Amino acid sequence: MRSRSVYVCQQCGHESGKWAGKCPSCGEWNSMVEVTASRVKSNKAKVTSGAKPISLSSVKISKSAKTSTGISEFDRVLGGGLVPGQVVLLAGEPGVGKSTLLLEMSGKIATTLYVAGEESAEQIKIRSDRINSKGEILLLEETNVETIIEVARKLAGRKIKALIVDSIQVITTSSLTGTAGSVGQVRESASRLAWFAKRTGVPVIMVGHSTKQGSIAGPATLAHLVDTVTWFEGDVARNVRLLRATKNRFGPTDEVGIFTMSSKGLVGVDETGGLFVTGTATVPGAVVAPILEGTRPILVEVQALVVPTKMAYPRRVAQGIDPRRLELILATLTQRARLPLHERDVFVNVVGGISVREPGIDLAVSLSCASAFMEKSLPEGTVAVGELGLLGEIREVMGQQRRIADARRKGFDKVISSSSHKFVKEAIIHSLRK
Ligand code: TYD
Ligand code: MG
Repeated sequence: MRSRSVYVCQQCGHESGKWAGKCPSCGEWNSMVEVTASRVKSNKAKVTSGAKPISLSSVKISKSAKTSTGISEFDRVLGGGLVPGQVVLLAGEPGVGKSTLLLEMSGKIATTLYVAGEESAEQIKIRSDRINSKGEILLLEETNVETIIEVARKLAGRKIKALIVDSIQVITTSSLTGTAGSVGQVRESASRLAWFAKRTGVPVIMVGHSTKQGSIAGPATLAHLVDTVTWFEGDVARNVRLLRATKNRFGPTDEVGIFTMSSKGLVGVDETGGLFVTGTATVPGAVVAPILEGTRPILVEVQALVVPTKMAYPRRVAQGIDPRRLELILATLTQRARLPLHERDVFVNVVGGISVREPGIDLAVSLSCASAFMEKSLPEGTVAVGELGLLGEIREVMGQQRRIADARRKGFDKVISSSSHKFVKEAIIHSLRK
């Protein structure tokens, strides 16, 4: 028999036997989440006997060795590997390669229990053959969380190194009546899996699909339940994939794993020398920038197209950088460098499908727009790095020397930065005059 469910408003805590789109108490929309009735009751009344505080100084840290995932880029993001009992959420858009990554990992660490909730065993076999996975993988086609835990628990003592759940959105618990993917089901199933991980020491990795808007549908509410939240991102139509941790109890959050999706699965990229650089950097409009992804220096190529506008409001299209940042840079260039960009449509793209969120790319964006506008290119082997201020000044950015050293190592020996020019106007005049 199913236990009774109640719906609890996540805003004000109002309880109701029926689901409602709008909380009858506080009026919040979509805040009613299904929980089991027993949970609600125990929250209120039950007192655990024997609970007593312990002195923090008496707590011993067990030197828990980290288990490598067998994938160096994944290890890098996790901070060395998986800690016993660690709960990881791997979030990303559908099709980005989450299942591929986890299947590759499963093939490398024997033995994992791979819970396939979305695909059939045959589909997974096809993928596994494609990526030429050799290791022993135990497959479980199941979506009921109690059954999954029961199966995993029997294996835990023996040999499994990790439990992979693909994906949390299709997993349900029989103690709730809501449909798979509802916030209540996702949260309850995840918390049971997390509890399993903590009890047995088996690391659990859950896949969570996110939407274009970036919210992990449902799993956004999971972040507090898991130890580590990793995001797998990249343009599904292109082959570069980045893995980042946005929360990490056992490691850094500023590392980034870089992969390319090939016809034989994901390939980790250790040396990103030319990955985001097309080699056309001597064409007007193209400028190479040394950016930092986490603590890693990467060279990216910024491309700009500047054309006369036919509209009252010129178009500004940015791919790979924040569109508002582009607006600001264009306004600064118009005013401080006297480039008449207000009469032009401007399109800016960062090559390779990578998204750059740091200001170190400002100068490269500025120079690529100026270069496209003037139809003059930068000398070969040039990189530009720096933040652009509203006065048109070039500011030094974090890790600038390290970026420059890395770029030099990769053959870019001409550097435009705050050390060479104080204002962007000078940088444009000096580097684009030929
Ligand atoms: P998948 O891992 O199924 O994505 P997710 O689990 O995040 O939804 O990957 C799907 C895409 O990856 C699919 O479009 C095919 C592509 N792919 C490759 O290009 N090479 C490969 O070796 C594999 C297995 C998939
Ligand atoms: Mg998948």
